[in-house]
Amino acid sequence: MCGIIAYTGTRSCTDLLYQGLRKLEYRGYDSAGLSVLSGGRIEVIRAVGNMDSLEKELEGNGHSDARLGLGHTRWATHGRPSTENAHPHSDCTGNVSIVLNGIIENYVNLRSELAANGHEFTSETDAEVVAHLIENHYNGDLLEAVRLTYADIEGHFAFCAIHSGHPELIAGARKECPLLIGVGKDEAFIASAIPAFLSETRDVIVIGDEELFVATPAGVTIMDLEKNELEREVTQVNWDVDAAEKAGFETFMRKEIYEQPDSLTDTIAGRLPDGGGVVLDEMAISDEVLAGIDKIYIVACGTSYHAGMVGRYVLENWSGVAVELDVASEFRYRDPVLSPSTLVVGISQSGETADTLAAMRQARKLGSKVLAITNIMGSQATRDADGVIYTRAGLEIGVAATKSHVAQIAAIHLLALYLAQARGAMSAGEIDGIASELKAVPELLQTYLRHEATTHEIAKRYYQQPFFLYLGRGVGLPVCLEGALKLKEISYIPTEAYAAGEMKHGPIALLDEGSPVVVVATDGHVYDKVISNIEEVRARSAAVIAVATEGNEGIKAYSDDVMFVPATSELLSPLLSVVPLQLLAYHIAQLKGCNVDQPRNLAKTVTVE
Ligand code: M6R
Repeated sequence: MCGIIAYTGTRSCTDLLYQGLRKLEYRGYDSAGLSVLSGGRIEVIRAVGNMDSLEKELEGNGHSDARLGLGHTRWATHGRPSTENAHPHSDCTGNVSIVLNGIIENYVNLRSELAANGHEFTSETDAEVVAHLIENHYNGDLLEAVRLTYADIEGHFAFCAIHSGHPELIAGARKECPLLIGVGKDEAFIASAIPAFLSETRDVIVIGDEELFVATPAGVTIMDLEKNELEREVTQVNWDVDAAEKAGFETFMRKEIYEQPDSLTDTIAGRLPDGGGVVLDEMAISDEVLAGIDKIYIVACGTSYHAGMVGRYVLENWSGVAVELDVASEFRYRDPVLSPSTLVVGISQSGETADTLAAMRQARKLGSKVLAITNIMGSQATRDADGVIYTRAGLEIGVAATKSHVAQIAAIHLLALYLAQARGAMSAGEIDGIASELKAVPELLQTYLRHEATTHEIAKRYYQQPFFLYLGRGVGLPVCLEGALKLKEISYIPTEAYAAGEMKHGPIALLDEGSPVVVVATDGHVYDKVISNIEEVRARSAAVIAVATEGNEGIKAYSDDVMFVPATSELLSPLLSVVPLQLLAYHIAQLKGCNVDQPRNLAKTVTVE
């Protein structure tokens, strides 16, 4: 986790670093800091809390002469959030300053060795050892000191270092955690993610895994670990700068909920051509291989896992291949039975989630083909996979995933149709029929969003309740799991989500008079079963909030409140039915006065296991 940014150039850089950190805040926001070279000394400014705290700390403290500096926004792993633990970290002399994203696994040993040699530590972090190691190795050559430090440390990380004796130079390295360079005229930005410098330059160089770099205003050089220079292309990113702003919405989360029709349209675009069939340009796994697979294994975390769970129903039904599913953090420490005829699908919005990446790598080692479904071009997941399906949700800032989730589900629909095509599991006519329905969903979703007020009213009636139970069957189950996750993560209200048929085996004991029970009861082959479960809930005097299909007036007799979604076929329905649950969570959290874009203890991208 954590976001890092560095600048070298001809402009005063404190504000550039600060603005860059604002764009990286989604990666962590329990403390933040900057270090700049000013008056020949490295000045460090740090604050506990989000960027507003750092902004206060910077007032009247801008060091306008600074042309070289580092910035960091932290999500604590080693050491509680405090000013001392905030980055940047310094060596004993104050000449070296570093920012780091990731984890140094052998820091305990390194720290005691350094301490035994007289180094004094001022924080509880693993990262501080990097500053002291550079100090140890420094002999007038910052790059060499960085290279030797890289060899000392274990784990996964990306870091940038500056030294007061090199007023224009940034050196650093990356292993598994992301690091990109934004190249400008007589300047360079180094950051964990493109939005940090997107307003300044669109020319980007990706630093590869296990590579070193140096940057000065005159240019950047990427090297392997022996300092051999590597050729690197500059790519132009065409992202919309405004995408990183709220565009008139009060929060990023609500803006992103409203971007879901576009996110779906873009994810489907060009992949279901009018002439028929399914086209997936980056699939890169041949039809022949796909025709031979006998098992699909989906690995993912959090919201992406819930998209994967929808995938289990869709893939089995349309492609006829058996599907297994696991959270990546469990999969990687089991002994999963995989073979070259297993297709492992890793789903990750960020393409950086440590557990998902580890699971994908493990699968590859065991000889399986690996497919990544991710939102981020060039992310690590794309490099750890044989093929990719990009979701095209655009930049998602809200920590609570919304538009990336519906895009993931649509990507799974595309994968299922593609497999069905490659394996001859469905006729061309059947595939085209589903394709037409899928293409109609964005418009249906747009229509649904006009009825947000209903959900707001329902939220007003229930937001003070201490607990919510979610129940669903079939594809309604992952929708419930996702709805319950959304509510707990942004409102801090405890929730449970259960397969409706399992309720009588335990969770029913939680129900009391008026307990809110959210039930996904959209049309489908298990609808009557869901109604029976609703009856069981009502017999305990609990309150039923149903998500149902428009036109089903009968559901009103079984529910206290209903959120209607437009009709579509059962396996496509999660694209619509999850949206009222996102909005319900959103409005409840807003009514409770919670910060929905930055829920406590969370970060958007989880690059630690
Ligand atoms: O980037 P990923 O999709 O791999 O992230 C996985 C989870 O951390 C993520 O889906 C998380 O559960 C959501 N942000 C919650 O809304």
